Amino acid sequence: METYNIAIDGPAGAGKSTIARLVARALGFIYVDTGAMYRAVTWKVLQEDRLPIQESVVADVARGMNIELIPHAEGQHVLVDGVDVTKLIRSTTITNHVSEIAAMGEVRSILVARQKQMAAGKGVVMDGRDIGTKVIPDAEVKIYLTASVSQRAERRFKEMQSSGDDSVTLEQLQQDIKRRDQMDQEREISPLVRAHDALLLDSTLMTVPEVVDTILGLCRDKVRGGE
Ligand code: CDP
Ligand code: CDP
Repeated sequence: METYNIAIDGPAGAGKSTIARLVARALGFIYVDTGAMYRAVTWKVLQEDRLPIQESVVADVARGMNIELIPHAEGQHVLVDGVDVTKLIRSTTITNHVSEIAAMGEVRSILVARQKQMAAGKGVVMDGRDIGTKVIPDAEVKIYLTASVSQRAERRFKEMQSSGDDSVTLEQLQQDIKRRDQMDQEREISPLVRAHDALLLDSTLMTVPEVVDTILGLCRDKVRGGE
């Protein structure tokens, strides 16, 4: 097997972007954070003060905006129509609205079409909620990465504290994670679900390097098996 794609799905805070970025770096693949694309659309809608949020309006915004994901040592930079929104799209306001927007069918079709194009050349590690089921159903390596709610909240809490952000309590983070998990799992279109052929990886008790090594091992097996 020459080049292949890796799909990583799972609930909020499971470590998907951290792991996907490191796996991509180790393999020389392109990393695509699809959550950042839904966040970028949410940012643009709120920026234009297009509330209350209507699906047709959001779809127009999504259709008309350019989203660029630029590889960077610490992840990727996200540009919307040339404006760097990397930090802005991580705000609590965006986090509070993103799952509502991501549940809209028209918005999903627009972004999924772009994501499919990005994966067409292979050599991509893509993370999100519907990558193994809808965006790259033929991905050669599929992972469903999860961890307990308390562990995921604690990881996020530590991450925020180390960046000097004490605006949210551990309790609030737990509530947000539960709420988003529920919305993402129960929505009608492309809900968060493990693809039948995805490896379930529970990282509650695993370190980042352990998860990365497990996935790289799986990739090696696939490559050998595909020769
Ligand atoms: O990093 P975090 O887990 O907070 O979320 P994210 O990956 O940035 O995704 C933000 C939100 O976008 C998720 O809660 C989902 O509602 C939505 N999303 C989606 O519906 N489909 C994707 N492929 C990626 C994200
Ligand atoms: O992308 P997603 O929302 O799934 O999670 P993330 O933003 O990559 O990870 C959330 C936090 O958990 C980051 O600070 C990671 O370094 C940390 N993490 C961890 O401590 N242990 C793991 N096995 C995976 C992630």
